[in-house]
Amino acid sequence: MFNLRYAATTLLLAGCIAAAGSTLVAAEEKGVTQSERSANSADEAEIKRGRLLFLQCRACHEVAAGQPHKVGPNLHGFIGQAAARADGFKYSDALSKSNLTWDAATLDRWIKHPSTVVPGTMMAYVGMASETDRRALIAYLESATK
Ligand code: HEC
Repeated sequence: MFNLRYAATTLLLAGCIAAAGSTLVAAEEKGVTQSERSANSADEAEIKRGRLLFLQCRACHEVAAGQPHKVGPNLHGFIGQAAARADGFKYSDALSKSNLTWDAATLDRWIKHPSTVVPGTMMAYVGMASETDRRALIAYLESATK
């Protein structure tokens, strides 16, 4: 009787240890997905902030495909492309001849101070001093213009 109970307890304990083991694995897996999830939500928060910052640009720029040019060109699909390539928009000579490609680094310098990057550009925007703001704005642009 004692032995049987002992055996049962041992079995139960073994079961618990096995269960604890799989809980641990599950927790580890959950840990990965949770940190991934928090990275994603950090990105989302940054993109949200970037969307607000883009209000400064929206008066002159659309981002979605098929929208018209405004004072500035529609920015749909511009990232990774050569500057001044949007059909039907009359760019300044300065930007047309700039030979720029819109990678993240160039875009960052442009947003910081457009007329330093392209003297003579007709984009009437003074620039965004904060690096954190520019990073958020670029994160938004990368998601909204593709
Ligand atoms: C007052 C209007 C105006 C505002 C505000 C403005 N832009 Fe522009 N943007 C322009 C014009 C005009 C051009 C074309 C410049 C040229 O041809 O020299 C341009 C060009 C650009 C280009 C180059 C596009 C291409 O096809 O090569 C990018 C990128 C850009 N703007 C991003 C922005 C961002 C980001 C903001 C906000 C921080 C912003 N602009 C604010 C008017 C504006």
